[in-house]
Amino acid sequence: MNFKASDVVMKFKGLTALDGVSLDVAKGEIVGLIGPNGSGKTTLLNVTSGVYSPTSGSFSMGAESWSSISLRDAARRGIRRTFQNIRLFNSLTVLETVEVASAWLGTGDRRENALNALDELHFTQHRDRIATELAYGMQRRLEIARAIAGRLEFLLLDEPTAGLNHGESEEIVTIVQAIRRRRGCGIVIIDHDLNVIMNVCDRVVVLSEGKVIASGPPQEVRRDPQVIKAYLGS
Ligand SMILES: Nc1ncnc2c1ncn2[C@@H]1O[C@H](COP(=O)(O)OP(=O)(O)OP(=O)(O)O)[C@@H](O)[C@H]1O
Ligand SMILES: [Mg+2]
Repeated sequence: MNFKASDVVMKFKGLTALDGVSLDVAKGEIVGLIGPNGSGKTTLLNVTSGVYSPTSGSFSMGAESWSSISLRDAARRGIRRTFQNIRLFNSLTVLETVEVASAWLGTGDRRENALNALDELHFTQHRDRIATELAYGMQRRLEIARAIAGRLEFLLLDEPTAGLNHGESEEIVTIVQAIRRRRGCGIVIIDHDLNVIMNVCDRVVVLSEGKVIASGPPQEVRRDPQVIKAYLGS
């Protein structure tokens, strides 16, 4: 089963954030999404996960297709995500944080889903701590736990290593690989750390000014003159 976004356009008033973007991700595949600031990476995740309805374009997953979807319906179909900026509720424990997300999905046993997700991210021993009191690196990990509780077909990670040190970033890489192995899901990962992208991705897609300018194996994309130009801006 593949997830496909076809010819997606997203306009914000005068600005075209996505200008005919197509993306194809297979189950079990890890795709890196890179590009300069403002190139449309987060917007692509937003329209895919149902935060915004695109101006035009369509999506499909297996036999199902749609042109616009709610955040909750996308999540129920197993399209799950994390956010570029951490969004945790005040005063909830780690377990409650994941349970709330799981309850919001409204499918399966919320407690069981939450406990499994915490176990997968080696978080069980911290389950009763207040989420917002965790160290920043652990909050990033908790966000991923929340996104994988319950049905997971495609996981969209928006800069999961932002603000982390080298060791913590390596830990995220290991976690992402383990999730793919255990769940067999497809993963899209946005990251500005090219080492993370090169280490973890089967394929890399490069956005620039709302368009896909390159797509292929990491080592090839890294040498692509158009990619180098987009990054260096000359
Ligand atoms: N809700 C919005 N309203 C208006 N403009 C928006 C909105 N969301 C994004 N944009 C604009 O769309 C363009 C693409 O933004 P986006 O956040 O997708 O970029 P990005 O590639 O994720 O950048 P970064 O690497 O800085 O996170 C930018 O010009 C941004 O200002
Ligand atoms: Mg972004």
